[in-house]
Amino acid sequence: MDLLLLQNILLSLFAAVSVAVVVSKLRGRRFKPPPGPFPLPIFGSWFQIGNNLDHHILTHYAKRFGDVILLKMGQLNVVAVSSKELAKEVLLTQGVEFGSRSRNIVFDVFTGKGQDMIFTEYGDHWRKMRRIVTVPFFTNKVVQQYRGAWEAEAAKVVEDVRGNPEASTNGIVLRTRLQLMVYNNIYKIMFDMTFDNEDDPLFVKVKETNGERSRLGQSLEYNFGDFIPFLRPFLKGYLKICKEVTRRRLNLYQDSFVALRKKLASKEGTERNGAKCAIDHFLEAQKKGEINDDNVLYIIENMNIAAIETTVWALEWAVAELVNNPDVQTKLRDEINTILGPGIQVTEADTHKLPYLQAVIKETLRLRTIVPCLLPHMNLQTAKLGGYDIPAQSRVLVNAWRLANDPTNWKKPEEFRPERFFEEESKIETNGNDLKYIPFGVGRRSCPGILIAMPVLGITLGRLVQNFEMLCPPGVDKIDTRENNGQFAMRILKHSTVVLKPIGVV
Ligand code: HEM
Repeated sequence: MDLLLLQNILLSLFAAVSVAVVVSKLRGRRFKPPPGPFPLPIFGSWFQIGNNLDHHILTHYAKRFGDVILLKMGQLNVVAVSSKELAKEVLLTQGVEFGSRSRNIVFDVFTGKGQDMIFTEYGDHWRKMRRIVTVPFFTNKVVQQYRGAWEAEAAKVVEDVRGNPEASTNGIVLRTRLQLMVYNNIYKIMFDMTFDNEDDPLFVKVKETNGERSRLGQSLEYNFGDFIPFLRPFLKGYLKICKEVTRRRLNLYQDSFVALRKKLASKEGTERNGAKCAIDHFLEAQKKGEINDDNVLYIIENMNIAAIETTVWALEWAVAELVNNPDVQTKLRDEINTILGPGIQVTEADTHKLPYLQAVIKETLRLRTIVPCLLPHMNLQTAKLGGYDIPAQSRVLVNAWRLANDPTNWKKPEEFRPERFFEEESKIETNGNDLKYIPFGVGRRSCPGILIAMPVLGITLGRLVQNFEMLCPPGVDKIDTRENNGQFAMRILKHSTVVLKPIGVV
Protein backbone atom coordinates (compact mmCIF):
# COMPACT_ATOMS: atom_id res chain seq x y z
CA MET A 1 0.00 0.00 0.00
CA ASP A 2 1.38 3.38 -0.82
CA LEU A 3 2.29 5.56 2.13
CA LEU A 4 -0.01 8.43 1.16
CA LEU A 5 -3.05 6.14 1.07
CA LEU A 6 -2.18 4.70 4.48
CA GLN A 7 -1.72 8.23 5.83
CA ASN A 8 -5.15 9.21 4.43
CA ILE A 9 -6.84 6.14 5.94
CA LEU A 10 -5.29 6.82 9.33
CA LEU A 11 -6.25 10.48 9.15
CA SER A 12 -9.84 9.60 8.20
CA LEU A 13 -10.05 7.07 11.02
CA PHE A 14 -8.69 9.62 13.49
CA ALA A 15 -11.19 12.22 12.26
CA ALA A 16 -14.08 9.74 12.48
CA VAL A 17 -13.14 8.71 16.03
CA SER A 18 -12.70 12.37 17.07
CA VAL A 19 -16.09 13.30 15.64
CA ALA A 20 -17.71 10.29 17.37
CA VAL A 21 -16.12 11.26 20.71
CA VAL A 22 -17.16 14.92 20.37
CA VAL A 23 -20.71 14.00 19.29
CA SER A 24 -21.11 11.52 22.11
CA LYS A 25 -19.75 14.08 24.61
CA LEU A 26 -22.09 16.74 23.24
CA ARG A 27 -25.03 14.34 23.34
CA GLY A 28 -24.09 13.24 26.81
CA ARG A 29 -23.96 16.86 27.87
CA ARG A 30 -27.24 17.61 26.17
CA PHE A 31 -29.14 14.55 27.32
CA LYS A 32 -29.01 14.04 31.03
CA PRO A 33 -31.29 11.18 32.15
CA PRO A 34 -32.31 10.82 35.81
CA PRO A 35 -30.13 8.55 37.95
CA GLY A 36 -30.94 4.91 38.44
CA PRO A 37 -29.39 1.47 38.60
CA PHE A 38 -26.85 0.75 35.86
CA PRO A 39 -28.69 -0.94 32.98
CA LEU A 40 -27.46 -3.95 31.02
CA PRO A 41 -27.79 -3.82 27.26
CA ILE A 42 -31.19 -5.05 26.00
CA PHE A 43 -32.44 -6.18 29.43
CA GLY A 44 -31.77 -2.96 31.33
CA SER A 45 -32.41 -3.55 35.04
CA TRP A 46 -34.91 -6.34 34.51
CA PHE A 47 -32.64 -9.07 35.92
CA GLN A 48 -32.10 -6.96 39.01
CA ILE A 49 -35.67 -5.79 39.59
CA GLY A 50 -37.77 -8.46 37.94
CA ASN A 51 -41.44 -8.16 37.14
CA ASN A 52 -42.67 -6.92 40.52
CA LEU A 53 -42.42 -3.23 39.88
CA ASP A 54 -44.54 -1.82 42.70
CA HIS A 55 -44.52 1.22 45.00
CA HIS A 56 -42.22 -0.54 47.51
CA ILE A 57 -39.55 -1.27 44.89
CA LEU A 58 -39.82 2.29 43.61
CA THR A 59 -39.45 3.59 47.16
CA HIS A 60 -36.37 1.43 47.63
CA TYR A 61 -34.70 2.90 44.53
CA ALA A 62 -35.85 6.43 45.40
CA LYS A 63 -33.99 6.11 48.71
CA ARG A 64 -30.86 5.09 46.78
CA PHE A 65 -30.96 7.41 43.79
CA GLY A 66 -33.27 10.33 44.62
CA ASP A 67 -36.70 11.82 44.03
CA VAL A 68 -36.65 11.25 40.31
CA ILE A 69 -35.20 8.02 38.99
CA LEU A 70 -34.99 6.23 35.69
CA LEU A 71 -35.35 2.47 35.61
CA LYS A 72 -34.54 1.02 32.23
CA MET A 73 -36.76 -2.03 32.15
CA GLY A 74 -35.66 -3.63 28.92
CA GLN A 75 -36.92 -1.30 26.20
CA LEU A 76 -39.23 0.61 28.52
CA ASN A 77 -38.12 3.72 30.36
CA VAL A 78 -39.83 3.91 33.74
CA VAL A 79 -39.49 7.24 35.50
CA ALA A 80 -40.57 7.34 39.14
CA VAL A 81 -41.20 10.52 41.07
CA SER A 82 -41.27 10.64 44.88
CA SER A 83 -41.29 14.28 45.99
CA LYS A 84 -44.06 16.85 46.30
CA GLU A 85 -42.22 19.32 44.10
CA LEU A 86 -41.72 16.87 41.23
CA ALA A 87 -45.24 15.46 41.58
CA LYS A 88 -46.46 19.02 41.17
CA GLU A 89 -44.37 19.38 38.00
CA VAL A 90 -45.75 16.16 36.48
CA LEU A 91 -49.39 16.60 37.45
CA LEU A 92 -49.90 20.36 37.43
CA THR A 93 -47.16 22.61 36.05
CA GLN A 94 -46.35 20.30 33.14
CA GLY A 95 -49.72 18.55 33.24
CA VAL A 96 -50.09 18.75 29.45
CA GLU A 97 -46.61 17.40 28.72
CA PHE A 98 -47.11 14.47 31.12
CA GLY A 99 -50.86 14.12 30.57
CA SER A 100 -50.85 11.05 28.35
CA ARG A 101 -51.11 7.48 29.59
CA SER A 102 -48.63 4.67 29.22
CA ARG A 103 -50.49 1.47 28.39
CA ASN A 104 -49.05 -2.03 28.46
CA ILE A 105 -49.59 -4.99 26.14
CA VAL A 106 -52.55 -6.25 28.17
CA PHE A 107 -54.23 -2.86 28.49
CA ASP A 108 -53.80 -2.40 24.74
CA VAL A 109 -56.13 -5.40 24.44
CA PHE A 110 -58.59 -4.26 27.11
CA THR A 111 -58.93 -0.75 25.70
CA GLY A 112 -58.64 -1.40 21.96
CA LYS A 113 -55.33 0.52 22.05
CA GLY A 114 -56.75 3.54 23.85
CA GLN A 115 -60.25 3.80 22.38
CA ASP A 116 -61.45 4.28 25.94
CA MET A 117 -61.13 7.32 28.16
CA ILE A 118 -58.80 6.27 30.97
CA PHE A 119 -55.90 4.86 28.95
CA THR A 120 -56.06 7.19 26.00
CA GLU A 121 -53.47 9.81 25.13
CA TYR A 122 -53.98 13.39 26.24
CA GLY A 123 -55.69 15.17 23.35
CA ASP A 124 -58.98 15.67 21.51
CA HIS A 125 -60.28 12.12 21.98
CA TRP A 126 -59.64 12.21 25.73
CA ARG A 127 -61.21 15.68 26.06
CA LYS A 128 -64.32 14.58 24.19
CA MET A 129 -64.67 11.37 26.21
CA ARG A 130 -64.17 13.15 29.52
CA ARG A 131 -66.79 15.78 28.58
CA ILE A 132 -69.31 13.11 27.57
CA VAL A 133 -68.82 11.15 30.79
CA THR A 134 -68.81 14.18 33.09
CA VAL A 135 -72.43 15.29 32.61
CA PRO A 136 -74.09 12.03 33.70
CA PHE A 137 -71.45 11.04 36.27
CA PHE A 138 -69.29 13.74 37.72
CA THR A 139 -71.30 16.72 38.95
CA ASN A 140 -72.84 17.66 42.28
CA LYS A 141 -76.24 17.42 40.61
CA VAL A 142 -75.58 13.72 40.00
CA VAL A 143 -74.65 13.26 43.66
CA GLN A 144 -77.92 14.90 44.74
CA GLN A 145 -79.88 12.83 42.23
CA TYR A 146 -78.46 9.48 43.40
CA ARG A 147 -77.64 9.96 47.06
CA GLY A 148 -81.05 8.54 48.06
CA ALA A 149 -80.32 5.39 46.07
CA TRP A 150 -76.88 5.04 47.71
CA GLU A 151 -78.46 5.43 51.17
CA ALA A 152 -81.09 2.82 50.31
CA GLU A 153 -78.39 0.39 49.11
CA ALA A 154 -76.42 0.85 52.35
CA ALA A 155 -79.63 0.24 54.34
CA LYS A 156 -80.11 -3.03 52.44
CA VAL A 157 -76.56 -4.10 53.35
CA VAL A 158 -77.38 -3.47 57.02
CA GLU A 159 -80.65 -5.38 56.70
CA ASP A 160 -79.02 -8.36 54.96
CA VAL A 161 -76.19 -8.55 57.49
CA ARG A 162 -78.65 -8.33 60.39
CA GLY A 163 -80.60 -11.17 58.84
CA ASN A 164 -77.55 -13.40 58.52
CA PRO A 165 -76.89 -15.30 61.80
CA GLU A 166 -73.40 -16.25 60.60
CA ALA A 167 -72.44 -12.56 60.62
CA SER A 168 -72.70 -12.20 64.40
CA THR A 169 -71.10 -15.55 65.25
CA ASN A 170 -68.34 -16.88 62.97
CA GLY A 171 -68.24 -13.82 60.76
CA ILE A 172 -68.72 -13.25 57.04
CA VAL A 173 -66.67 -11.93 54.12
CA LEU A 174 -68.45 -8.58 54.09
CA ARG A 175 -66.70 -7.64 50.86
CA THR A 176 -68.99 -9.74 48.69
CA ARG A 177 -72.10 -7.92 49.96
CA LEU A 178 -70.40 -4.54 49.65
CA GLN A 179 -69.44 -5.40 46.10
CA LEU A 180 -73.10 -5.93 45.15
CA MET A 181 -73.90 -2.58 46.75
CA VAL A 182 -71.22 -0.71 44.79
CA TYR A 183 -72.29 -2.40 41.54
CA ASN A 184 -75.83 -1.24 42.22
CA ASN A 185 -74.69 2.30 43.01
CA ILE A 186 -72.83 2.58 39.71
CA TYR A 187 -75.23 0.58 37.51
CA LYS A 188 -78.07 2.80 38.74
CA ILE A 189 -76.25 5.84 37.35
CA MET A 190 -75.10 4.05 34.21
CA PHE A 191 -78.16 1.97 33.22
CA ASP A 192 -80.87 2.98 35.70
CA MET A 193 -80.96 -0.62 36.97
CA THR A 194 -79.83 -2.65 39.94
CA PHE A 195 -79.31 -6.34 40.71
CA ASP A 196 -81.67 -8.08 43.16
CA ASN A 197 -79.15 -10.08 45.08
CA GLU A 198 -75.75 -11.76 44.88
CA ASP A 199 -77.26 -14.75 43.05
CA ASP A 200 -78.86 -12.70 40.27
CA PRO A 201 -77.58 -14.61 37.18
CA LEU A 202 -76.71 -11.43 35.27
CA PHE A 203 -74.82 -10.07 38.27
CA VAL A 204 -72.90 -13.33 38.58
CA LYS A 205 -71.94 -13.12 34.89
CA VAL A 206 -70.86 -9.46 35.03
CA LYS A 207 -68.94 -9.93 38.26
CA GLU A 208 -67.16 -12.99 36.92
CA THR A 209 -65.98 -11.47 33.64
CA ASN A 210 -64.96 -8.22 35.33
CA GLY A 211 -63.11 -10.29 37.92
CA GLU A 212 -61.23 -12.15 35.20
CA ARG A 213 -60.31 -8.89 33.50
CA SER A 214 -59.08 -7.54 36.80
CA ARG A 215 -56.98 -10.61 37.59
CA LEU A 216 -55.43 -10.66 34.11
CA GLY A 217 -54.81 -6.91 34.07
CA GLN A 218 -53.45 -6.49 37.59
CA SER A 219 -50.98 -9.38 37.40
CA LEU A 220 -47.35 -8.28 37.37
CA GLU A 221 -46.24 -11.53 35.78
CA TYR A 222 -46.68 -10.36 32.20
CA ASN A 223 -44.39 -7.35 32.68
CA PHE A 224 -41.47 -9.07 30.97
CA GLY A 225 -43.34 -9.09 27.65
CA ASP A 226 -43.82 -5.36 27.94
CA PHE A 227 -40.19 -4.72 28.82
CA ILE A 228 -38.50 -7.06 26.38
CA PRO A 229 -40.46 -7.31 23.13
CA PHE A 230 -38.63 -10.38 21.82
CA LEU A 231 -39.98 -12.37 24.80
CA ARG A 232 -43.58 -11.60 23.82
CA PRO A 233 -44.14 -14.93 22.08
CA PHE A 234 -44.10 -16.46 25.57
CA LEU A 235 -47.24 -14.46 26.32
CA LYS A 236 -49.16 -15.62 23.29
CA GLY A 237 -51.48 -17.83 25.36
CA TYR A 238 -51.99 -15.09 28.01
CA LEU A 239 -52.85 -12.45 25.43
CA LYS A 240 -55.22 -14.85 23.70
CA ILE A 241 -57.13 -15.25 26.98
CA CYS A 242 -57.15 -11.44 27.42
CA LYS A 243 -58.64 -11.04 23.94
CA GLU A 244 -61.25 -13.70 24.64
CA VAL A 245 -62.23 -12.10 27.97
CA THR A 246 -62.44 -8.68 26.32
CA ARG A 247 -64.68 -10.04 23.57
CA ARG A 248 -66.96 -11.70 26.13
CA ARG A 249 -67.18 -8.59 28.29
CA LEU A 250 -67.91 -6.18 25.49
CA ASN A 251 -70.55 -8.56 24.08
CA LEU A 252 -72.12 -8.85 27.51
CA TYR A 253 -72.33 -5.06 27.88
CA GLN A 254 -73.71 -4.74 24.38
CA ASP A 255 -76.31 -7.53 24.55
CA SER A 256 -77.47 -7.29 28.15
CA PHE A 257 -77.36 -3.54 28.73
CA VAL A 258 -76.84 -1.29 25.70
CA ALA A 259 -79.22 -3.14 23.35
CA LEU A 260 -81.85 -3.30 26.07
CA ARG A 261 -81.60 0.40 26.74
CA LYS A 262 -81.79 1.24 23.05
CA LYS A 263 -84.97 -0.84 22.76
CA LEU A 264 -86.47 0.87 25.79
CA ALA A 265 -85.60 4.30 24.41
CA SER A 266 -87.23 3.56 21.06
CA LYS A 267 -90.38 2.30 22.84
CA GLU A 268 -90.63 5.39 24.97
CA GLY A 269 -90.10 7.50 21.87
CA THR A 270 -89.59 11.20 22.37
CA GLU A 271 -92.01 11.38 25.27
CA ARG A 272 -89.87 9.36 27.61
CA ASN A 273 -91.09 9.12 31.16
CA GLY A 274 -88.22 7.10 32.58
CA ALA A 275 -85.20 8.83 34.05
CA LYS A 276 -82.37 9.60 31.64
CA CYS A 277 -79.27 7.71 32.71
CA ALA A 278 -75.62 7.80 31.67
CA ILE A 279 -75.96 5.32 28.82
CA ASP A 280 -78.62 7.58 27.20
CA HIS A 281 -76.05 10.39 27.19
CA PHE A 282 -73.39 8.13 25.65
CA LEU A 283 -75.80 6.90 22.97
CA GLU A 284 -76.82 10.47 22.16
CA ALA A 285 -73.15 11.39 21.68
CA GLN A 286 -72.78 8.35 19.45
CA LYS A 287 -75.84 9.34 17.38
CA LYS A 288 -74.37 12.81 16.91
CA GLY A 289 -71.21 11.15 15.59
CA GLU A 290 -69.02 12.43 18.43
CA ILE A 291 -68.00 8.89 19.42
CA ASN A 292 -68.48 5.45 17.87
CA ASP A 293 -70.12 2.21 19.06
CA ASP A 294 -66.83 0.86 20.39
CA ASN A 295 -66.13 4.02 22.38
CA VAL A 296 -69.48 3.55 24.14
CA LEU A 297 -68.54 0.00 25.14
CA TYR A 298 -65.09 1.08 26.30
CA ILE A 299 -66.58 3.79 28.52
CA ILE A 300 -68.74 1.10 30.13
CA GLU A 301 -65.66 -1.10 30.50
CA ASN A 302 -63.75 1.74 32.17
CA MET A 303 -66.51 2.44 34.65
CA ASN A 304 -66.85 -1.23 35.58
CA ILE A 305 -63.29 -1.20 36.84
CA ALA A 306 -62.36 2.37 37.77
CA ALA A 307 -65.56 3.10 39.64
CA ILE A 308 -66.46 -0.23 41.18
CA GLU A 309 -63.25 -2.02 42.12
CA THR A 310 -61.54 1.00 43.64
CA THR A 311 -64.50 1.77 45.88
CA VAL A 312 -64.84 -1.87 46.99
CA TRP A 313 -61.12 -2.08 47.76
CA ALA A 314 -61.32 1.13 49.78
CA LEU A 315 -64.28 -0.19 51.79
CA GLU A 316 -62.48 -3.46 52.39
CA TRP A 317 -59.39 -1.70 53.73
CA ALA A 318 -61.46 0.68 55.86
CA VAL A 319 -63.40 -2.17 57.50
CA ALA A 320 -60.13 -4.03 58.20
CA GLU A 321 -58.62 -0.92 59.82
CA LEU A 322 -61.75 -0.30 61.90
CA VAL A 323 -61.65 -3.89 63.19
CA ASN A 324 -57.93 -3.68 63.98
CA ASN A 325 -58.35 -0.30 65.65
CA PRO A 326 -61.35 -0.75 68.00
CA ASP A 327 -60.73 2.62 69.71
CA VAL A 328 -61.14 4.38 66.38
CA GLN A 329 -64.31 2.40 65.71
CA THR A 330 -65.79 3.34 69.10
CA LYS A 331 -64.84 6.99 68.67
CA LEU A 332 -66.50 7.07 65.27
CA ARG A 333 -69.68 5.47 66.63
CA ASP A 334 -69.74 7.99 69.47
CA GLU A 335 -69.38 10.86 67.01
CA ILE A 336 -72.32 9.62 64.94
CA ASN A 337 -74.51 9.02 67.99
CA THR A 338 -73.67 12.41 69.48
CA ILE A 339 -74.08 14.49 66.34
CA LEU A 340 -77.02 12.68 64.73
CA GLY A 341 -78.60 11.04 67.76
CA PRO A 342 -78.90 7.30 68.37
CA GLY A 343 -80.58 5.36 65.59
CA ILE A 344 -80.65 8.23 63.09
CA GLN A 345 -79.14 6.68 59.96
CA VAL A 346 -76.26 8.51 58.27
CA THR A 347 -77.21 10.27 55.02
CA GLU A 348 -75.03 11.92 52.41
CA ALA A 349 -75.80 15.34 53.90
CA ASP A 350 -74.75 14.07 57.35
CA THR A 351 -71.35 12.91 56.13
CA HIS A 352 -70.31 16.58 55.90
CA LYS A 353 -71.20 17.07 59.58
CA LEU A 354 -69.08 14.14 60.77
CA PRO A 355 -65.43 15.21 60.81
CA TYR A 356 -64.13 12.03 62.44
CA LEU A 357 -65.83 9.93 59.76
CA GLN A 358 -64.07 12.05 57.13
CA ALA A 359 -60.77 11.63 58.98
CA VAL A 360 -61.18 7.82 59.09
CA ILE A 361 -61.72 7.77 55.31
CA LYS A 362 -58.74 10.07 54.72
CA GLU A 363 -56.50 7.97 56.94
CA THR A 364 -57.57 4.77 55.16
CA LEU A 365 -56.75 6.27 51.77
CA ARG A 366 -53.40 7.54 53.09
CA LEU A 367 -52.14 4.32 54.63
CA ARG A 368 -53.80 2.13 52.01
CA THR A 369 -53.35 4.24 48.90
CA ILE A 370 -55.64 2.23 46.61
CA VAL A 371 -53.89 3.36 43.41
CA PRO A 372 -50.38 3.74 44.89
CA CYS A 373 -48.55 5.14 41.86
CA LEU A 374 -51.64 6.76 40.28
CA LEU A 375 -52.34 5.49 36.80
CA PRO A 376 -49.21 5.61 34.64
CA HIS A 377 -48.65 8.99 33.02
CA MET A 378 -46.60 9.47 29.86
CA ASN A 379 -44.80 12.27 28.03
CA LEU A 380 -45.25 12.04 24.26
CA GLN A 381 -42.14 14.19 23.65
CA THR A 382 -38.80 14.42 25.41
CA ALA A 383 -39.32 16.51 28.55
CA LYS A 384 -37.45 18.09 31.44
CA LEU A 385 -37.98 17.15 35.07
CA GLY A 386 -35.95 18.22 38.08
CA GLY A 387 -33.06 19.24 35.81
CA TYR A 388 -33.03 15.86 34.02
CA ASP A 389 -34.07 14.87 30.54
CA ILE A 390 -36.94 12.43 30.33
CA PRO A 391 -36.94 10.29 27.19
CA ALA A 392 -40.09 10.56 25.09
CA GLN A 393 -42.82 7.99 25.87
CA SER A 394 -41.52 7.16 29.31
CA ARG A 395 -43.87 5.52 31.78
CA VAL A 396 -44.04 8.17 34.49
CA LEU A 397 -45.12 6.91 37.89
CA VAL A 398 -45.92 9.31 40.70
CA ASN A 399 -45.40 7.33 43.90
CA ALA A 400 -48.43 8.67 45.75
CA TRP A 401 -48.08 5.98 48.42
CA ARG A 402 -44.54 7.12 49.20
CA LEU A 403 -45.64 10.77 49.36
CA ALA A 404 -48.37 9.81 51.84
CA ASN A 405 -46.13 7.53 53.92
CA ASP A 406 -42.79 9.30 53.91
CA PRO A 407 -41.58 9.86 57.50
CA THR A 408 -40.08 13.20 56.48
CA ASN A 409 -43.59 14.36 55.50
CA TRP A 410 -45.70 12.62 58.15
CA LYS A 411 -45.52 11.92 61.87
CA LYS A 412 -45.33 8.12 62.42
CA PRO A 413 -46.84 7.36 59.01
CA GLU A 414 -47.08 3.63 59.75
CA GLU A 415 -49.76 4.28 62.40
CA PHE A 416 -53.47 4.31 61.56
CA ARG A 417 -54.34 7.55 63.33
CA PRO A 418 -57.26 9.58 61.91
CA GLU A 419 -56.60 12.22 64.59
CA ARG A 420 -53.64 13.47 62.53
CA PHE A 421 -56.20 15.17 60.27
CA PHE A 422 -57.38 17.32 63.24
CA GLU A 423 -53.91 17.90 64.60
CA GLU A 424 -50.75 18.41 62.54
CA GLU A 425 -52.48 17.74 59.16
CA SER A 426 -55.70 19.66 59.75
CA LYS A 427 -55.48 21.51 56.44
CA ILE A 428 -55.16 18.46 54.22
CA GLU A 429 -58.05 17.47 51.97
CA THR A 430 -58.54 14.53 49.59
CA ASN A 431 -58.62 16.82 46.54
CA GLY A 432 -54.84 17.21 46.37
CA ASN A 433 -54.55 20.66 48.00
CA ASP A 434 -51.22 19.39 49.34
CA LEU A 435 -49.19 17.21 46.98
CA LYS A 436 -48.08 14.92 49.79
CA TYR A 437 -51.60 13.51 49.88
CA ILE A 438 -53.06 12.67 46.47
CA PRO A 439 -55.14 9.46 46.75
CA PHE A 440 -57.21 10.59 43.75
CA GLY A 441 -54.34 12.30 41.91
CA VAL A 442 -54.58 15.98 41.01
CA GLY A 443 -54.69 17.96 37.78
CA ARG A 444 -56.01 17.08 34.34
CA ARG A 445 -55.98 13.30 34.65
CA SER A 446 -57.04 13.19 38.29
CA CYS A 447 -59.94 11.01 39.39
CA PRO A 448 -63.28 12.61 38.56
CA GLY A 449 -64.95 9.86 40.62
CA ILE A 450 -63.89 11.48 43.91
CA LEU A 451 -67.30 13.18 43.85
CA ILE A 452 -69.02 9.79 44.03
CA ALA A 453 -66.45 7.79 45.99
CA MET A 454 -66.31 10.07 49.05
CA PRO A 455 -70.08 10.15 49.78
CA VAL A 456 -70.45 6.41 49.07
CA LEU A 457 -67.59 5.62 51.47
CA GLY A 458 -69.05 8.00 54.07
CA ILE A 459 -72.61 6.66 53.94
CA THR A 460 -71.51 3.01 53.93
CA LEU A 461 -68.91 3.17 56.68
CA GLY A 462 -71.13 5.42 58.78
CA ARG A 463 -74.05 2.98 58.57
CA LEU A 464 -71.86 -0.06 59.27
CA VAL A 465 -70.34 1.47 62.38
CA GLN A 466 -73.62 2.78 63.77
CA ASN A 467 -75.38 -0.55 63.26
CA PHE A 468 -72.68 -3.08 64.10
CA GLU A 469 -69.74 -3.69 66.32
CA MET A 470 -67.18 -5.02 63.84
CA LEU A 471 -64.79 -7.58 65.31
CA CYS A 472 -62.25 -10.24 64.37
CA PRO A 473 -63.64 -13.74 63.95
CA PRO A 474 -63.30 -16.15 66.91
CA GLY A 475 -59.70 -17.19 67.56
CA VAL A 476 -58.21 -14.34 65.50
CA ASP A 477 -56.79 -11.22 67.14
CA LYS A 478 -55.91 -9.13 64.08
CA ILE A 479 -57.24 -8.93 60.55
CA ASP A 480 -54.49 -9.84 58.11
CA THR A 481 -53.62 -6.60 56.32
CA ARG A 482 -50.87 -7.83 54.04
CA GLU A 483 -50.98 -6.23 50.60
CA ASN A 484 -51.49 -7.75 47.20
CA ASN A 485 -49.96 -5.30 44.78
CA GLY A 486 -50.77 -5.32 41.10
CA GLN A 487 -50.16 -3.16 38.06
CA PHE A 488 -52.13 -0.22 39.46
CA ALA A 489 -53.80 -1.30 42.66
CA MET A 490 -52.99 -2.03 46.26
CA ARG A 491 -55.49 -4.62 47.43
CA ILE A 492 -55.80 -6.58 50.65
CA LEU A 493 -54.13 -9.98 50.20
CA LYS A 494 -56.94 -12.04 51.74
CA HIS A 495 -60.57 -11.00 51.81
CA SER A 496 -61.19 -10.63 55.52
CA THR A 497 -63.83 -12.42 57.52
CA VAL A 498 -65.44 -10.01 59.95
CA VAL A 499 -67.90 -10.54 62.80
CA LEU A 500 -70.70 -7.96 62.81
CA LYS A 501 -72.64 -7.82 66.08
CA PRO A 502 -75.85 -5.80 65.71
CA ILE A 503 -76.15 -2.80 67.99
CA GLY A 504 -79.61 -2.09 69.37
CA VAL A 505 -80.85 1.50 69.65
CA VAL A 506 -80.53 2.67 73.25
C1 HEM B 1 -61.81 5.18 46.53
C2 HEM B 1 -62.12 5.21 45.27
C3 HEM B 1 -61.23 5.71 44.16
C4 HEM B 1 -59.88 5.98 44.16
C5 HEM B 1 -58.89 5.84 45.31
C6 HEM B 1 -59.54 6.45 42.82
C7 HEM B 1 -58.28 6.84 42.43
C8 HEM B 1 -57.95 7.22 41.14
C9 HEM B 1 -56.64 7.61 40.71
C10 HEM B 1 -55.41 7.68 41.61
C11 HEM B 1 -56.70 7.90 39.40
C12 HEM B 1 -55.52 8.30 38.50
C13 HEM B 1 -55.12 9.74 38.62
C14 HEM B 1 -53.90 10.06 37.77
O1 HEM B 1 -53.43 9.19 37.04
O2 HEM B 1 -53.37 11.17 37.87
C15 HEM B 1 -58.06 7.70 38.97
C16 HEM B 1 -58.51 7.90 37.69
C17 HEM B 1 -59.83 7.77 37.31
N1 HEM B 1 -60.90 7.42 38.13
FE1 HEM B 1 -60.81 7.01 40.09
N2 HEM B 1 -60.68 6.44 42.07
C18 HEM B 1 -61.74 6.02 42.84
C19 HEM B 1 -63.07 5.92 42.46
C20 HEM B 1 -63.56 6.25 41.21
C21 HEM B 1 -64.96 6.26 40.86
C22 HEM B 1 -66.11 5.96 41.84
C23 HEM B 1 -65.03 6.59 39.53
C24 HEM B 1 -66.23 6.75 38.65
C25 HEM B 1 -67.47 6.84 39.07
C26 HEM B 1 -63.67 6.80 39.07
C27 HEM B 1 -63.31 7.13 37.77
C28 HEM B 1 -62.03 7.41 37.35
C29 HEM B 1 -61.70 7.76 35.99
C30 HEM B 1 -62.68 7.87 34.82
C31 HEM B 1 -60.30 8.00 35.95
C32 HEM B 1 -59.45 8.37 34.77
C33 HEM B 1 -59.33 9.86 34.57
C34 HEM B 1 -58.59 10.21 33.30
O3 HEM B 1 -57.72 9.47 32.85
O4 HEM B 1 -58.88 11.27 32.75
N3 HEM B 1 -62.80 6.59 40.11
N4 HEM B 1 -58.81 7.29 40.06
